[in-house]
Parts: sequence; structure tokens; C-alpha cells
Amino acid sequence: MRGTSMKPQSLRRAASVILAAASLLIGGATSGHAAAGPGQAGPDRQAAAEPVLRDLAAAKGIYYGTAVTASKLSGTYGAVVGEQFDSITPGNEMKWGSVEPTRGTYNWSGADAVVDYAEAHGQKVRGHTLVWHSQLPDWVSNGSWTAGTLRTVMTDHIAAEAGRYKGRIDHWDVVNEPFNEDGTRRQSVFQTAIGDSYIAESLRAARAADPAAKLYVNDYNVEGVNAKSTALYNLVKSLKEQGVPIDGVGLQAHLILGQVPSTLQANIQRFADLGVDVAITELDIRMTTPPTSAQLTQQKAEYKAVTGACLAVARCEGVTVWGFTDSDSWIPDVFTGYGAATPYDENFRPKPAYYGIAEALGWTDGGTNPPTGACAVTYAVQSQWNTGFTAQVTVRNTSTTAVNGWKLAWSWPAGQRVTQAWNATLTQSGAAVTAADAGYNAAIAPGASATFGFNGSWSGGNTAPTAFTLNGTACTSP
Ligand code: G3I
Repeated sequence: MRGTSMKPQSLRRAASVILAAASLLIGGATSGHAAAGPGQAGPDRQAAAEPVLRDLAAAKGIYYGTAVTASKLSGTYGAVVGEQFDSITPGNEMKWGSVEPTRGTYNWSGADAVVDYAEAHGQKVRGHTLVWHSQLPDWVSNGSWTAGTLRTVMTDHIAAEAGRYKGRIDHWDVVNEPFNEDGTRRQSVFQTAIGDSYIAESLRAARAADPAAKLYVNDYNVEGVNAKSTALYNLVKSLKEQGVPIDGVGLQAHLILGQVPSTLQANIQRFADLGVDVAITELDIRMTTPPTSAQLTQQKAEYKAVTGACLAVARCEGVTVWGFTDSDSWIPDVFTGYGAATPYDENFRPKPAYYGIAEALGWTDGGTNPPTGACAVTYAVQSQWNTGFTAQVTVRNTSTTAVNGWKLAWSWPAGQRVTQAWNATLTQSGAAVTAADAGYNAAIAPGASATFGFNGSWSGGNTAPTAFTLNGTACTSP
């Protein structure tokens, strides 16, 4: 169930709780859900141009999380994770193969780093995952087991890992991906050696190791009503009837653009009606690359729809994206020709999807985030010499609302560098360039334009960029 975390964590969290209480006293809860607290969604935040997902989510009574890579939790990556998300899931660091590569030899460094980071940033932790057929150490997957010997190994592993983090994990994905697509049990080493009961035994062992953690069964392709999700439904129903400790169901939601199941909300609701919580645990929405403006716009609508489906069901506790940036996504490695699946691009710039999430969580942009295609950019190289060039950029507001403060972003395809700019402030990180308004030209009325110029250096080629975003939303360019 949605509710407050009672664990004292960072000062930021303490401050958030105070703000939440104050906001609730003045009627700050904005939905029928039990608000966990709006965090910093007070007047200052609401006036800010950029949304903060964790605050918006808290005000709606859910959490918004991301999978993380422990070794990347610093610099810009770490800053975005801390600022925007109130739950983190280690992408790999808590998997059996990571923590116990050889029997009885544990390596907790990555998992510890994630839990420590979460506590320093007032975030929940989704433990992922205790019993899964994949990323197992060889000694488990290739072992020669009887039901009894593997049961002991499995429950010992759960006791060791869930016990180590006792009281520090909010949700455990105890069992991951137990079903085949047709709803039969996956023939994992656990299923074949122990039989159907391995799931109940895992849940009981996890409850014994960490009584405060919410215990989940998690799977993919179970977002809509289908044979696999119905098998999961029947499993949960049966576990509940037997008194097995199960608190929630995780719908991974590795989705393909254009294929968000129409039955998503109804499916979440039917699990909730069984008396368990639900979470979207690994959301990403992949598309063919390079993405077009139209694809990014559609992805925005789909992130908004998935977030909205969770909000619409009181027992949906939160949403986790499987990597917040395209630079930390598993998709391109596994699905050739696909990518762009997360809410931020590879240079940590929010994509339209990010604003779709924010809008689902109640954020309105005050006119600074025009819909895709509601800005048009011309980029013209006016003169060019052996290693330098001068260019002029015009951004036109083709929407019906005023833009009040703008950032125009693009990525240079050929290693160009900004050397000097006028009528805008240009910053560059790698290939990523952001042009911020110069103050006096911050407002762009509907139909009006802002123009700025710059000098740059080039070598090898001076190909013009073709994709631009205005305040994170894609523009058209001729
Ligand atoms: O760490 C090694 C590195 O040392 C080596 O150089 C490199 C070479 O390939 O591999 C690295 O390990 C990779 C690991 O991710 C860390 O990056 C593995 O090869 C790669 O297989 C592994 O992929 C992970 C995948 O699970 C494994 O199934 C993804 O990062 C991770 O995002 C993904 O997450 C799963 C969830 O746990 C369950 N649901 C599906 C989801 C997507 O597959």
C-alpha cells in the first residue's frame, strides 16, 4: 500500500517530511491516493520551470525510481539520480552472480554503494533480485542438485543477502521471471530441482530475513491481460490463499513504442483486487534509432500513459525506469537497431518522455515546454574558413503559448566546438551544446522568434545538426 517510509534517512528527507506535513495540513494532497508527502513540491518548486519527478510523485502518493549502475553514481549521472528520483534499483549489483560468484565468497561492494547512496539521498531501495534463472554464478546454474541441496543453497543465499540489508530495503524482487510466455513455469534450475514450491519457499525465507521489506514477484510481458499475466495472477491468488508472504507484483514494462497494452490499468487493478501492491519496475519504451521527432512525441505520450495507469490504481506504489538515460540502457546491446528507450538522452538532457512523466504527475509547464513540432529551428553556417566558422540559429515559437525562458539543445555530429557566442549563452559538453537565452530575449511570443549567433571551430567536417530540442521538447528543423 502507498504510505510513508518511517526510516530516518537524510536531512533532505527530514525536511521533505516536514514540508509534506505542512502541505497536507493546507490540503496539499491532490488525489484520492494517500500522499507519501510532496517533498519539495512547495511554492518554490512549483514556480521553477523544470519539474522534479520525485517531488511530483510524492505529492501524488507514489514513488518514481530508476535503475542505476553503482560505478556511475557521481558527476552529472549521480546528480540527476539524486535530484529526480526517490527510489533506486541496482541494475546488476544485487544479482546472485554479482554478490556470490563462488560459493561462500561474497562481494557486496556494488550493492553497498547503491544502498549507501540511497540513504544519503533520501531514496527507497528496490532490491533486485534474489532468485532468478539469469546472471547466476556457474556454481549454481551448473551444479548437480537435489531438491534438498538446492533449497538449502537458495534459502542460505536469501538469508545472507536480505539479511545483510535488513531494514534498509523497501521492496525486494524476491523471485524474478518465473513464467514462460504461455503461462507455464520457466524451467529454471530452481523449478527443475525444487519444483513449484520454490517460489513460496523463497518468499518465506525473505520474510524471515527482513520482515520489514515488501516482498514482490516480478516478471516481464505481464503488463497487459494475457496468458502469462494470468498465470502470475493465479500464482499470487494461490500464495495469498496459502498465507505465503507476498506483498506485491512487479510489472517490468520493457515496452516497444506503439505497443503499450490497452489493458495495462485493468491488469494492475486485478492484481490490486487480490490484495497485493503493484509496481512498474523496469519501464523503458524502445524505438528504432535514430529517433524522429514524431517517435519522441509518441514516446512522451506513452510514458505519460504508463505513469497515469499506475496513478489510477491506489495500490500501484510507484514506477521505476530501467535506466534514466539512454547512455545507461540495456536496449542497444540486446536489440540491434533499437534504443532511445529512456526519459533522458545520452547527454543527460531530458527528452519529451521526461515531460510526459511530469505531466502525468500533475506538472504543467507554464508555456515553457511547447509541444513537439511547436518550435522550428533554422541553423545556418554563414561563413566558414579552414578551421573556423560563424553560424546563426533562429528558433521560432510555432505554438499558441508564450515561451518564457528557453534552452535550445543540439548535438554536433562532427566534433565542432563553440568558441564565442552572442545573444545567447552557449555551453558544451562533448558533442552536446545548450544555448540558453540571454535574458533580454527570454520571452518568445507565439509566432515570434529568437536569433543568436556564434563562432565555432571544426576539423574534418562541419556537418550541421538536424535535431534540436527547446526546453527538452523536440523541434522541427527544415
Ligand atoms: O560487467 C561486465 C564487464 O566487465 C564486461 O566488460 C562486459 C562485456 O560484455 O559485460 C559486463 O557485464 C554486463 C552487465 O550487464 C553489466 O553491464 C553483462 O555482459 C550484461 O549481460 C548485463 O546485462 C544486464 C542484463 O540484465 C542481464 O540479463 C543489464 O545490464 C541489465 O539491465 C538487465 O536487467 C534485466 C533485469 O535484471 C531483469 N529484467 C530484464 C532486464 C533487462 O534484461
